[in-house]
Amino acid sequence: MKLFDVYPLYDVEPVKAEDCNVWDKDGKEYLDLYGGHAVISIGHGHPHYVHKLKAQLDNIGFYSNAVQNSLQKELADKLGKLSGCDEYELFLCSSGAEANENALKLASFHNGKHRVVAFTNGFHGRTSAAVVATDNKAIIAPINAQQEVAILPLGNLDMVEAELKKGDVCAVIIEPIQGVGGLDEAETSFFKGLETLCKAHNTCLILDEVQSGFGRSGKFFAYQHHGITPDIISMAKGMGNGFPIGGILIAPHIKSKYGLLGTTFGGNHLACAACIAVLEVLEKESLIEKAALTGEYFFAKANEIPGVVAVKGRGLMLGVEFDYEVGPLRKQLIYDKHMFTGGAKNKNLLRILPPLTIKVEQIDAFIEAVKELVTEKV
Ligand SMILES: Cc1ncc(COP(=O)(O)O)c(C=O)c1O
Repeated sequence: MKLFDVYPLYDVEPVKAEDCNVWDKDGKEYLDLYGGHAVISIGHGHPHYVHKLKAQLDNIGFYSNAVQNSLQKELADKLGKLSGCDEYELFLCSSGAEANENALKLASFHNGKHRVVAFTNGFHGRTSAAVVATDNKAIIAPINAQQEVAILPLGNLDMVEAELKKGDVCAVIIEPIQGVGGLDEAETSFFKGLETLCKAHNTCLILDEVQSGFGRSGKFFAYQHHGITPDIISMAKGMGNGFPIGGILIAPHIKSKYGLLGTTFGGNHLACAACIAVLEVLEKESLIEKAALTGEYFFAKANEIPGVVAVKGRGLMLGVEFDYEVGPLRKQLIYDKHMFTGGAKNKNLLRILPPLTIKVEQIDAFIEAVKELVTEKV
């Protein structure tokens, strides 16, 4: 059977990984500055994580959501404490798109409205409602197009107000730092304005923390840099350090009811064990604080690279923007320097999303490699 061809692939196959390094099938070592798309939070194969998952598998790997599962409660307690979001309630699922789909659906159940406001260059996943809130017409199928979403420019509160005044907007969904779009971020005044407008018009404010959450931005959630209180927070990537798990945090004024949401795989025993291990390591190794500090170091260093026009992002959710397209540079980084980086919708931007355990020496190695490549280019 052939595979359905949906991604252009680099000709490299990682078969082994440890912390911030991966090895291909020929034993060649790579530095992972991409974290498998911001997924690897506590480092590849962290011993505590491996131990927890193995031990869980020895006991029970899966049972359905029709019975008690105290691991879900343990996860919720630890997540509430570490994130500072103790008052929220948790619903678990298995991916980022699914988290946003549930967030949008819950908002609509809550206030009975149906339209959504989202923003230019945003990305929220590929499921029915999430994909229409994503600013990329090429990935919206005709079957999705019945969803009504107004995509507005990031930063324009007047336009948001005009939409909310129509009275039919169930949710405003926004990434605190845009990932796929290219690391752009609205100002604190915009986030605060959204919060006020959403309250005034009975609209739910959804913060999509699928990529920025779990410490990547230098705070547990990136919206916490702006001092706001969202109605729903969606999360996924860094949650399971590679084990598929997603979820939403739901503010207490949104009431649960049997049948509103559901899932077969969400919150299964292995997924919970993975996420609990991630939370324990984030706390024990102070990885959130480290992400903030390493990010500051990266900012200073990356600004020294010739041809860099901007360094964007926060913590270890970073973008380096050049005055030319970076596709060829990414290829050279992977094939010549053995370093994984990411791309973005902004073709001039190199995305850096390493495990939060990355060391300054590894940042130095990356900066030197890029300097060498761009100097050769000139
Ligand atoms: C901000 C954001 N939301 C949602 C998603 C979708 O997540 P998933 O691919 O797990 O469905 C992504 C994936 O890149 C993302 O970056």
